Amino acid sequence: MKPNVLLIEDNAATRFGFVRYFSKDGYEIFEAANLAEASAALAVSRFDIIVLDINLPDGNGIDFISIVRANDPCIPIIVITGQGDIPLAVEAMQRGADNFLTKPVDNAALAEFIRKTLEIGILKKQQSARKRLEKKDDFFIGEARVMQEIHNLALAAAACDIPILITGETGTGKGMLARWIHQQGARAAHECVEVNCSGLRGEMLSREIFGNARGAFTSADQDRKGLLDIADRGTLFLDEIGDMSIDVQAQFLKVLEDKSYRRLGDVKLLRSNFRLICATHHDLDSLVSSGQFRQDLMYRINMMTIHLPSLRERMDDLPALVAYLLRSLGSTSGVLSEDIMKILRDYHWPGNIRELKNILERALLLTPQGTTVRQAHFSSLANKRLYQPETKRLTVQEVEESHIKSVLEQSCGDIEKAAKSLNISRATLYRRLKQINA
Ligand SMILES: Nc1ncnc2c1ncn2[C@@H]1O[C@H](COP(=O)(O)OP(=O)(O)OP(=O)(O)O)[C@@H](O)[C@H]1O
Ligand SMILES: [Mg+2]
Repeated sequence: MKPNVLLIEDNAATRFGFVRYFSKDGYEIFEAANLAEASAALAVSRFDIIVLDINLPDGNGIDFISIVRANDPCIPIIVITGQGDIPLAVEAMQRGADNFLTKPVDNAALAEFIRKTLEIGILKKQQSARKRLEKKDDFFIGEARVMQEIHNLALAAAACDIPILITGETGTGKGMLARWIHQQGARAAHECVEVNCSGLRGEMLSREIFGNARGAFTSADQDRKGLLDIADRGTLFLDEIGDMSIDVQAQFLKVLEDKSYRRLGDVKLLRSNFRLICATHHDLDSLVSSGQFRQDLMYRINMMTIHLPSLRERMDDLPALVAYLLRSLGSTSGVLSEDIMKILRDYHWPGNIRELKNILERALLLTPQGTTVRQAHFSSLANKRLYQPETKRLTVQEVEESHIKSVLEQSCGDIEKAAKSLNISRATLYRRLKQINA
């Protein structure tokens, strides 16, 4: 892939010399004669590096650095300053430029600078991706045979570029696995763009995916990049693909077939070189049978399918998974009593690993430092059946307790969600849980 350079320079002769020299060197160069042209180019295209003159007809290049950095902390910027402008160069570096050269610019020196700065840019991107990944928890694989097979499949998936479909019940780690595959592959230095197809429907979804031209609809006051642009050279992760509406499916199929697309309201054909990963908790075959999902699209997106097992199907991994999650939640012990483990083993985990993690998190929050986690915090799992409607007359307090527990269970242990549907604050919910020893 040719590196894309955005050259911001008002002197036409300098630009001409630059383009002649660097096109030969295998660069794709976009010329901007002022900051307005540069901003417009940045709004619609992705660049690997910016070469920026400081004195421009419509403003100061130094201020432009801050604007670029606010949107993209990684893109390499080389600044060209006039002779004797060392204080300006220092300021440029403080604002986030990666390198500077003084005029008159020697193209050979600039070529070397660009090469080095591009390397720095890739390193910065890798670092920031690693940091993002470190912040999120790592993907637990475990010893179960099914997971070992999934591990091998995922490694194979990371090593190639074919579209992958990840299936599995809610909370089994589909999203985590998609990001993991992106991180292990050759595209890790570029973006992994996530789109949740169930959150956005119809035109909203196509606007997000394809972007729009200025004037495409009433509020479109400028050209806007779509997620396909941003995923260029990276990964496009379409989550909940089973919920994509039929009209967007047709548009998206066309992108996959033609490898090109148009922004809404634009005639220009654009290309994006992305790797596709899709996920769904639906059974796509039955959606195809009922006419809700296009068969031709299904064939295109699942060249390789990875099915994540439910937590019920990998109970052998439970102790290791609990230890892993407890540590990731900051617990020093990583072990629960045998009585608690029995409750966890006997439960059917409709919310899978997400639910397990939420329940462990809640138990840890309710456990004072230095004390062991109490079995009472897991009693809502063990007593599940007790909260079904009963014939005996209940007291107001019992009804409230039972209601809180059942809402919590429906929210798969997610305190925030439960508090929201109970219309009380998280703090009040924690207090009530403590009182009723849940
Ligand atoms: N293998 C795993 N290792 C560690 N944590 C995991 C794993 N799988 C799931 N989790 C935890 O469960 C949470 C839910 O995972 P994720 O969002 O990937 O599930 P999902 O299958 O995409 O669910 P949904 O279908 O509801 O979107 C994660 O935030 C993570 O905390
Ligand atoms: Mg998900």
